Amino acid sequence: MKKACTYAVATCLFLILILFSACSPTRRLSSFDPQVNEFLERMTLEEKIGQMTQPEQDLVLGNPGDMQKYFIGSVLSGGNSDPADGNSLEAWTDLYDKVQAEAMKTRLAIPVLYGIDAVHGHSNVLGSVIFPHNIALGCTRDADLVEKIGRATAIEVRATGIQWTFGPCVTVPQDIRWGRTYEGFSEDPTLVRGLGKAAVLGLQGTDLSNPLSILACAKHYVGDGGTAAATAAPPGFPQSKAGRLRLDQGDTKLDEAALRRVHLQGYITAIQAGVGSIMPSYSTWNGVRCSASKRLLTEILKEELGFEGFLISDYNAIDQIDPDYKKAVRISINAGMDMAMAPNTYREFFNTLKELVEEGKVPMSRIDDAVKRILRVKFAMGLMDPDRPRTADRTLHKDFGSKEHRSLAREAVRKSVVLLKNENQTLPISKKATRIHVSGKSADNIGNQCGGWTILWQGRSGEVTPGGTTILQAVKAAVSQDTEVTYSRDGTGAEGAALGIVVIGELPYAEGIGDRADLSLDDEDITAVNNIKSAGIPVVVLVISGRPLIVNDILPQTDALLVSFLPGTEGRGIADVLFGDYNPTGRLSFSWPKSMDQLPLNRNSPGAEYDPLYPFGYGLTY
Ligand code: GLC
Repeated sequence: MKKACTYAVATCLFLILILFSACSPTRRLSSFDPQVNEFLERMTLEEKIGQMTQPEQDLVLGNPGDMQKYFIGSVLSGGNSDPADGNSLEAWTDLYDKVQAEAMKTRLAIPVLYGIDAVHGHSNVLGSVIFPHNIALGCTRDADLVEKIGRATAIEVRATGIQWTFGPCVTVPQDIRWGRTYEGFSEDPTLVRGLGKAAVLGLQGTDLSNPLSILACAKHYVGDGGTAAATAAPPGFPQSKAGRLRLDQGDTKLDEAALRRVHLQGYITAIQAGVGSIMPSYSTWNGVRCSASKRLLTEILKEELGFEGFLISDYNAIDQIDPDYKKAVRISINAGMDMAMAPNTYREFFNTLKELVEEGKVPMSRIDDAVKRILRVKFAMGLMDPDRPRTADRTLHKDFGSKEHRSLAREAVRKSVVLLKNENQTLPISKKATRIHVSGKSADNIGNQCGGWTILWQGRSGEVTPGGTTILQAVKAAVSQDTEVTYSRDGTGAEGAALGIVVIGELPYAEGIGDRADLSLDDEDITAVNNIKSAGIPVVVLVISGRPLIVNDILPQTDALLVSFLPGTEGRGIADVLFGDYNPTGRLSFSWPKSMDQLPLNRNSPGAEYDPLYPFGYGLTY
């Protein structure tokens, strides 16, 4: 009898263990500590610091022998860092193999973690599928879709061998004048919680050792989207830009309760999803650089929230902590930073940190903690498995830019379109209309559809990447063969058409370059709308932008108004909505202001009067 009870208890315990492990999204990183600690004991100080050092790929490869001399454990390709052999799937894959081969020449042959900003698809690489930016995905409210996009992105990134993306951005932008608004899912922390978690699960899956998973990086910790508008350049920046509105890398003036309520939420759920890396923000919290804050990096993130992965600094962010670089490195590493993104100063970082440890100013325990965290991830990803190939899996090239991924992106586009106005049932448009006139600077422009962080750091207008479909091309593909589609950028020549479509908005930008004091439409857009209006036909306006814009100047002339924000390469998703193949379901992820003097304008802003043109969550259907 006794034996039977013992078996019963053991069985129950086993089932509970299975259930728990099945529930938790991924194996805890600390469960790898036995292998990690054994490996750590074999490492020299230089080998440990090498794991904490991340140069730009082209700079370290440009100094033959440096990968070995500095025991480099990670490299990045920043926004403008392409392979020397050009921007192609083959060249990127060859670059990855070359980087790993260099790492294999070191004593311990620890594989490199290669990081890149695959923030809306594998967006540095020509021919990849460019998905809508997060602001548009926020309008879908669809966590399953966001997870699928993460999965597809992971596969396209792995096709080049690369195994780490600096995303998702779980910022909660509170002032849409900020140039990084579009990198956020929403002004609303609850929406960011859910979609940020889905993005991590999509990218990492539930098993980091899956060769189709990539390491995610929740960023930028914390409060990057809550900085106060200023007119002076941040400390350490050339004051020549003083007087221009600045939000990016500014100061978030909040007490800790408010910081947690609004800006911490995406990190809580990202950690629940098992995120393996987190990037501290350039910005400051009540005057203290996030990258220098022990309260933020160690006490809250690692001790209270139990984050077991590693912290990667932003691009030269450590340098901004103090003009005395050695002091800056000491402060940041002791605060809890684990890896330095030191693109062009990797040698200086390596030597400075080595000195600090030898002088006892950075304890070896801090170095061991940082390297343990990095090695946990490398073990969890299977990188340390001697049987795992150190070269890219080129069989994945068939999935890169695939029809399936384009179809998924098209689904995301149509689900993200928000219908803001539709007088006299102007929409949906008949596919049998006699003639449709298309106009506007972004009607036939893949680069404008994609926005920043596309092939180039700032993105660019025009044919920025092949394989996509512009809105004009999508309209032509959607209508019947008897329908004539004409085009003029400025809206002239529309007389006689059944209706006119005008695609207006913003040109590509990224980061602080996109900080704008005035979000009014430019004259070219207003002229195009007026030219269509003067043709005496219904006017359909589509806004392609990284945020809500002030549309008062064209609203009276507009019969139907839609926004797609930054849809990416798959313009057919917009035609699906315009012609009624998909009944719009998108709902605004940000409040849409009536005027600039309302900003910052958020549904949850305490005390402020909330009187938007279109409120958070607004969206019409047919
Ligand atoms: C940039 C951005 C960050 C990006 C990193 C690497 O400055 O702040 O989002 O991941 O550098 O490109």
